[in-house]
Amino acid sequence: MDLAQLTRDLEDLRSEALAQAAAAPDTTAVEALEIELLGKKGRLTGVLRGIGGLPAEDRPRVGAIANAVREAIEAALRERGAALRGGELEARLRRERLDVTTPGRPLRRGSLHPSIEAMADIARIFAQFGFVVVESPEVEDDLKNFQMLNIPPDHPARDLWDTLYVDQPGNLLRTHTSPGQIRVMQSMAPPIRVLLPGRCYRYEAVDASHGFEFFQVEGLMVDEGTTLADLKGLLDQFAHAMFGAGRKTRFRPGYYPFTEPSVAFDVECLVCGGPGCPACGRTGWMTILGAGMVHPVVLQYGGLDPERYQGFAFGMGPERISMLKHGITDLRLFMDNDLRFLEQFR
Ligand code: DAH
Repeated sequence: MDLAQLTRDLEDLRSEALAQAAAAPDTTAVEALEIELLGKKGRLTGVLRGIGGLPAEDRPRVGAIANAVREAIEAALRERGAALRGGELEARLRRERLDVTTPGRPLRRGSLHPSIEAMADIARIFAQFGFVVVESPEVEDDLKNFQMLNIPPDHPARDLWDTLYVDQPGNLLRTHTSPGQIRVMQSMAPPIRVLLPGRCYRYEAVDASHGFEFFQVEGLMVDEGTTLADLKGLLDQFAHAMFGAGRKTRFRPGYYPFTEPSVAFDVECLVCGGPGCPACGRTGWMTILGAGMVHPVVLQYGGLDPERYQGFAFGMGPERISMLKHGITDLRLFMDNDLRFLEQFR
């Protein structure tokens, strides 16, 4: 190896490297070139390996040329890298460009199902009188759904609640929320003020006013010295909060096996306001719930002494309340999941 040859090799490397640097397509390629040309096992090192074969006095000159070549390559790579980085940033900014003035896409807002909405309204009103919401199961036993509510087997009143049974003997789908009363009395000590909302089931032929599946809200108050007057006062307050302060109300005698006496509670017809119309069967009144003083036998099944405690109970259908409030004439709409109906309650 002689000096002239080595010098030529270095010059060749320089011009080739500068061309490569100038042609590098991206910053990754620039980094790869740096290793290929200037790395420990790179091409410059390779050329300089020949330096060992030179006479000692020539070596400094080759060293000086080699340094110049290294610097030139480094500068070219740095320059190309900087240029590419600028372009890449610009491209990325262009790609990720965001128009912050674009109007947002509106989110679809849901709404409460009218049954749920009615139950929430009912719960809110009774909460003001200290009633708390308690849940009870949809699968009940014959004891609590009937017998402990003073409806023994074969009692004719069972015809009021056509029942769907489940496979397990003695169990059924609750036909009303009243069995929750028994559960509450057995597990809570008076004074008791509870609301029991929930789904109920009946073996019904479905029509505009009967469903096999519907909600009820049960109320129960038990304390010492509770009277029918307390019940009447409370229900009046409820009706006024729910349907408007000016509404007339009335109590009529009713019949339920689990209350004595039993009443039906009516409000003035919300459509005609009194004179009578098709919506109220021309009576001028709409029945909104059944109620009464808890039968002593029922208190006993609940583990309470009827000599010491008295109570009242009531049960209402939130769908019916909703129908009266909104002028809905077909109960089936509540379970159809038809958005054209449901979207009106936003
Ligand atoms: N459970 C009755 C029904 O399903 C409604 C009812 C009436 C509940 C009177 C009561 C009550 O608690 O006192 O028709």
